[in-house]
Amino acid sequence: MLINLGQRPAADDLLGLLLDCHTRIRTFSALAVDLGRREGLPAHQVEQACDRCARYFSEALPLHVADEEVSLLPRLSAGRAEVQAALASMHGQHQEHEAPLRALLAALSALRASPGDAALRARLLEVATPLAAAFEEHLQLEEKHLFPALDALLSPQVQAEVVAEVRARRSPRT
Ligand SMILES: [Fe+2]
Repeated sequence: MLINLGQRPAADDLLGLLLDCHTRIRTFSALAVDLGRREGLPAHQVEQACDRCARYFSEALPLHVADEEVSLLPRLSAGRAEVQAALASMHGQHQEHEAPLRALLAALSALRASPGDAALRARLLEVATPLAAAFEEHLQLEEKHLFPALDALLSPQVQAEVVAEVRARRSPRT
């Protein structure tokens, strides 16, 4: 395996849940870059890593974006000017990520189909590297300017509501 994600208990508070999501974004961005760089991996490892990355970026990441856009943004929008500016940047960056994410998923799918193809690996590296950098900038914006404001702007009851929404997004639908 390229990266061992390890196992640790999931957070149960809002900040912890959001930071766990950020850890996963960094982990899978790094995995995509690593996959683009590594020569000579067995085909089955390349296929597995492509599948894990594609599943994360197509299924899990959109849930985190919804956590922030749907559950957090409206509740923080009465914050001071610095928080409002960070929310506007966050929203804009979520939109800016959409096209490179589509390119990343296309590159993963192509490499998954031909795991030994060096040109497809190079293409993955070409799209994954700037996207990983864009994610890092985005995560740092949220961690520096939004997350520290959570306790001041959201009562424990409102934070519990957000946590319930975050969990509901991930609960299996019946
Ligand atoms: Fe975000």
